[in-house]
Amino acid sequence: MAGGVIAADSGSNQDFPAKLTGQVLICTAIAAFGGLMFGYDIGISGGVTGMDEFLMKFFPNVYIKKHHAHENNYCKFADEYLQLFTSSLYLAAIVASCAASFMCKKFGRKPTMQAASIFFFIGAILNLTAKKLGMLILGRLFLGAGVGCGNQAVPLFITEIAPAKYRGGLNVCFQLLITIGILIANLVNYFTSNIKQYGWRISLGGAAVPAIILLVGSFMIVETPASLIERGKKERGLKTLKRIRGVDDVEKEFEEIVRATEIANKIKHPFRELTKRPSVPPVICGTIIHVFQQFTGINVVMFYAPVLFQTMGFGSNASLLSAVITGTVNSLSTLIAVFSVDIAGRKKLLIMGALICLVAQCAIGGLLKTYLTETSKVPSGTAKLVVGLICLYVNGFAWSWGPLGWLISSEVFPLETRSGGFFLAVATNMFCTFLIAQAFLSMLCTMQAYIYFFFAAWLVTMIVFVAAMLPETKGIPIDEMVERVWKKHWFWKRFYKSSDIERPKASIQLENQDKQNQ
Ligand code: BGC
Repeated sequence: MAGGVIAADSGSNQDFPAKLTGQVLICTAIAAFGGLMFGYDIGISGGVTGMDEFLMKFFPNVYIKKHHAHENNYCKFADEYLQLFTSSLYLAAIVASCAASFMCKKFGRKPTMQAASIFFFIGAILNLTAKKLGMLILGRLFLGAGVGCGNQAVPLFITEIAPAKYRGGLNVCFQLLITIGILIANLVNYFTSNIKQYGWRISLGGAAVPAIILLVGSFMIVETPASLIERGKKERGLKTLKRIRGVDDVEKEFEEIVRATEIANKIKHPFRELTKRPSVPPVICGTIIHVFQQFTGINVVMFYAPVLFQTMGFGSNASLLSAVITGTVNSLSTLIAVFSVDIAGRKKLLIMGALICLVAQCAIGGLLKTYLTETSKVPSGTAKLVVGLICLYVNGFAWSWGPLGWLISSEVFPLETRSGGFFLAVATNMFCTFLIAQAFLSMLCTMQAYIYFFFAAWLVTMIVFVAAMLPETKGIPIDEMVERVWKKHWFWKRFYKSSDIERPKASIQLENQDKQNQ
């Protein structure tokens, strides 16, 4: 790895003695509830914004437009406040994930997850009891703070407690729980849409359940050894390491963590480190993967599937049912990634997934262009075909860009810039999600069926980028990415030509110390 990090991290590719203990599985399962909170929120907003009572109470203009006989199909949901309801959460999440990256370092991963669950719980209660639009948006901001803290702390937590050889599979559990959260939200919406007056309150208040589970569960989980050691609690770190690995022989791994954290701790300004030349390749690839993930158009389906289906003339209940179907496809398809990501490799999955999404988007665009005019309904056979194509599209996304966006951005950074770099990735994801959530309904209104070709063009761009620019990271130990991936890549290697000059001083010092000691 670049510079002295070799000294600190080279042991990471050794197989440290470890069992896949119950402790690790329980901790992963509990922490992944952070993903479920996130997913629940993604899924719930679309259904709720299709419910008449909710619209009547908070967005009467949209309600009137929706029921206006001659309203343009593509524009009946366009309302900037309705968009703000969905997107405000993501703005709060960006700010929160920045604060969370400091909190993770200073107080640990566990308290950051606890903060996430408390924010999320408050947000859910505010939404459950909302009387005015302001209260509703305030609730969304709290939920956003919860999502920001959770998305920053949970993947980091899972990565640090997982034994190296199970890291990939355990990491994808975060995405799996996101998709299960979306599915649960779709089911909840399906049932509550039949409850007049307060069905939407149950839907929004339901977010409190995963928050409580995460909060209560967090008292049962351990802090990660790396975080304990980083904060000077070496003995506790060692004890925890023995407990989660299920073996006594953990000295090598312990030493490895101690040395790696020594290097990381000597770097006073991790964010400044990210602006240096050797950080350019992981920063570009780790963040652009999230831009691309969002510009597959996935959240158009996740947030607005019920709204989209209503646009095609499905009744409100049928549209929610269709959203349940896409949610099921999403969860089941994510399992494919759990088992194939370490066999097929990241690049193959990304390219194949994008090709499937591309075919589906073009077909949907073509069908809607032909059959959905501004005021007509799509014929029922065509509408069903479109639902089928949306399922195909979700399937392609679920085993590729969904989990791999999170996985790749968490594995491409060297230790000293990992948490700062990962913050950039999370913030990019949240910002692009915000853009899509905020702009989609207006774009649908102006671009109409062409919107699907807009996303198709992005898919072509990402296929080219992955094929030419993204290195394969399958099977590479997380701490050897620079040596074995970036320095070997036909393009990115130029950023390392003078890497010795660019090496962090602390790393060089440590390596010199090593030489003296020998
Ligand atoms: C993305 C979300 C998306 C979800 C769908 C996640 O990886 O970050 O924006 O809604 O996948 O399953």
